[in-house]
Amino acid sequence: MAGVTFKSVTKIFGKDVRAVDNLNLEIRDREFMVLVGPSGCGKTTALRMIAGLEESTEGDILIGDKRVNDVPPKDRDIAMVFQNYALYPHMTVYDNIAFGLRLRELKGFFWQMSHLGDAKRIKEDIDRRVKETAAMLDIGHLLGRRPKELSGGQRQRVALGRAIVRKPKVFLMDEPLSNLDAKLRIQTRAELIRLHRSLGITTVYVTHDQVEAMTMGQRIAVMKDGLLQQCDQPEVVYNRPANKFVAGFIGAPPMNFLEATIALNGSLIVDAGDVKFPLPSDHPAKALAGKPVTLGIRPEAIFDANLNNPVAATEQNTFEAKVDVLEPMGPEYTAYINTGTHDLLATIDSGTKIEEGKPNRFVVNLDALHIFDSESEVAVR
Ligand SMILES: Nc1ncnc2c1ncn2[C@@H]1O[C@H](COP(=O)(O)OP(=O)(O)OP(=O)(O)O)[C@@H](O)[C@H]1O
Ligand SMILES: [Mg+2]
Repeated sequence: MAGVTFKSVTKIFGKDVRAVDNLNLEIRDREFMVLVGPSGCGKTTALRMIAGLEESTEGDILIGDKRVNDVPPKDRDIAMVFQNYALYPHMTVYDNIAFGLRLRELKGFFWQMSHLGDAKRIKEDIDRRVKETAAMLDIGHLLGRRPKELSGGQRQRVALGRAIVRKPKVFLMDEPLSNLDAKLRIQTRAELIRLHRSLGITTVYVTHDQVEAMTMGQRIAVMKDGLLQQCDQPEVVYNRPANKFVAGFIGAPPMNFLEATIALNGSLIVDAGDVKFPLPSDHPAKALAGKPVTLGIRPEAIFDANLNNPVAATEQNTFEAKVDVLEPMGPEYTAYINTGTHDLLATIDSGTKIEEGKPNRFVVNLDALHIFDSESEVAVR
């Protein structure tokens, strides 16, 4: 087992496509790390550099303590699962899973030919490992079938089996669930987490889906334009986003952003025109008094003032807004509300009596306000 380290790694394609830009990231031994970010931000490129399928332009990649820049892919002891997990169509599930093992054993096999017992031992060993892996993934009953006789989810599990059976030092997974329907995706997500718990193999998992990142990652690394934006535990990234991009990318529905200023008249206030809220007097936003800031409020930090809420309504934490649209989402509504100058999203408990087209009072959890420097977009806290 081993961790993976990026040391100032840059990948430039052609003349000027900086797919990965000075990436410094340490993935710990046995950790489940998710790389997340919008399309084109460099996730796959980063993963392919760990695998050795792509050479870095600058910097070092370490697996364990070993610099692997010059180590060929097959000697890196990693297993990769892609979105398009091509199974061998003419082989059974059993042979698909056993294939990599046989290939690897083959080298040692010729060397050991003089010991006749070894061929049998190797065959038995492979058989045991294939069956163990299949049982773990609940595909033991499918070993005799060919890929075309399987459902999408079953094929996905065969592809995982093929990676797992080798017991590599590191798993690399590139959007491995994106071909599955919603229900199967949630189920396989849970299976992967369980699998990681029981095998404890260092895993780097790539997705553009922030829900997947939040639910699966022990830590998540958010990327944009080849640049690492923040790497931390999901709760930290959610509660203390480093900048406006991360704040808007993580969380659904997305955080509301309001252009505002910091006012200092007796007390400290973040003033977005028809909504204003007090800030603690020692808030570092004080240094930005008079300058433009962006106020961030998550939809789930806004409540219907007429309900029993975790935060009591006061003069200072409430505002009035008209309800434009109410979208039922099961236990809650996504409410599109308008303060006069700002359109906001609010996640409101379905016990609400608010109605489309009518004004209502809303409460904000002042402890969950986010302030960003409008110029640098960096969080002020
Ligand atoms: N072989 C290549 N030649 C030139 N440019 C490339 C190559 N591979 C990737 N790129 C560019 O590098 C950037 C990062 O690509 P990458 O595939 O790593 O993104 P990604 O985060 O995996 O995106 P997605 O979520 O769409 O899979 C993109 O701008 C892409 O166009
Ligand atoms: Mg990709």
